[in-house]
Amino acid sequence: MDFKRLEQTLKNINSFSEAGEGINRLAYTDEERQAADEIGEICKKEGMSVKYDSVGNLIARREGTHPELPAVAFGSHIDSVYEAGAYDGTLGVAAAIEIIRSLNEAKIQTEHPLELIVFACEESARFSFSTLGSKAIAGLLKKEDIADLQDKDGIFLRDAFQKYKLHLDKFGEVKQRKGAYKAFFELHVEQGPVLEEKNIPIGIVTGIAGATRFQLNIEGEASHSGTTPMGYRKDAFLGAAEIALAIEKAAKAEKSVGTVATVGVCDVEPGAMNVIPGRVKMQVDIRGISEASKKMVIQKLFQSIKDTEEKRGLIIHHTRTNDQAPVVLSEEVIQELSKTCDENEYAYQLMPSGAGHDAMNMTNLCPVGLIFIPSEKGLSHNPKEYSSIEQIAPGATILKQEILKWAGVADRTADKIQSLP
Ligand code: GLV
Ligand code: MN
Ligand code: MN
Repeated sequence: MDFKRLEQTLKNINSFSEAGEGINRLAYTDEERQAADEIGEICKKEGMSVKYDSVGNLIARREGTHPELPAVAFGSHIDSVYEAGAYDGTLGVAAAIEIIRSLNEAKIQTEHPLELIVFACEESARFSFSTLGSKAIAGLLKKEDIADLQDKDGIFLRDAFQKYKLHLDKFGEVKQRKGAYKAFFELHVEQGPVLEEKNIPIGIVTGIAGATRFQLNIEGEASHSGTTPMGYRKDAFLGAAEIALAIEKAAKAEKSVGTVATVGVCDVEPGAMNVIPGRVKMQVDIRGISEASKKMVIQKLFQSIKDTEEKRGLIIHHTRTNDQAPVVLSEEVIQELSKTCDENEYAYQLMPSGAGHDAMNMTNLCPVGLIFIPSEKGLSHNPKEYSSIEQIAPGATILKQEILKWAGVADRTADKIQSLP
């Protein structure tokens, strides 16, 4: 593989971004759709057949010598959070493109077809809904989950779909049957500090934390900040602050199993220096690989909501906007990946993923492997996110070799499967 070219591909995809300190390529925006089109063009040049499905996943297929066999799929996402780094998702797609290019150059044919998938709307940043594209493919999307989704500018998901000639009402057609894929692989940056701290080049993911998310609407009473004595206030923001601190405490109590809780959105209304906050809209994200531990934190959230209502005279409505169970990845794939690392003399670490990934939904359809490479200082969802090309190369190498193992390298003349070189 040509890792300089992989680096160029990353740069090329990342040239599609709204202005800002970091990458701004939110789901279903011109930048994200144009980047997907560019990838589609690259894949066509590499001889692949390319299509969008009706939710905007891009699927590029490289035929195998046995087209009737299930495809080996691999890929990631190119949509980003606000002010993102250059690697989250995009690395997995750039590496996938490089693998295709290198197979073409070496004239390697696989027995199984290969499918490169660029998933749509992995990030929840824009519509507060994550991994939409892979949920659709895996048959996990429900109409009621997406019917009323809106971004913070009030744009409905359905209108964004219309703009790009996608079809929200046809998401059911995107669903693949179990067995449609032989396996799915994703290469991703770790987005945490473990691999860098231990100086280990490869992480093999054993399980992915499930996110449970809530929208809280806290109703207090707006009033004059100068004239309202402290004892007369119904300050919605202070209620929000109490709840945020309560869930921090609850998650810290679950530290041994790694459960985490975050308030990433807290909109204070009316949002003026001289007005006591009358309303707060807040979003809570609770994640972990232990369902029991997550439940404990959720219980404490509910208790804190009740206590805060009583103590501060507030009315608090909550809606569960996401409830994803933790996912355990295929033991068989973990073993195969471990073997591939051993063969290449790369040290590896078996580890859980705290972040969500499209890979978790793909477990509904086939065995799945998720490969991590180190992230500098563990930073992600941050413009400073960084992994060097030297850190990327081992991950891309393992991904390629693993894909070839599962897809089988075909001898054109004898039409036989060969073991890997
Ligand atoms: C994906 O970036 C996530 O929020 O886990
Ligand atoms: Mn992300
Ligand atoms: Mn990602």
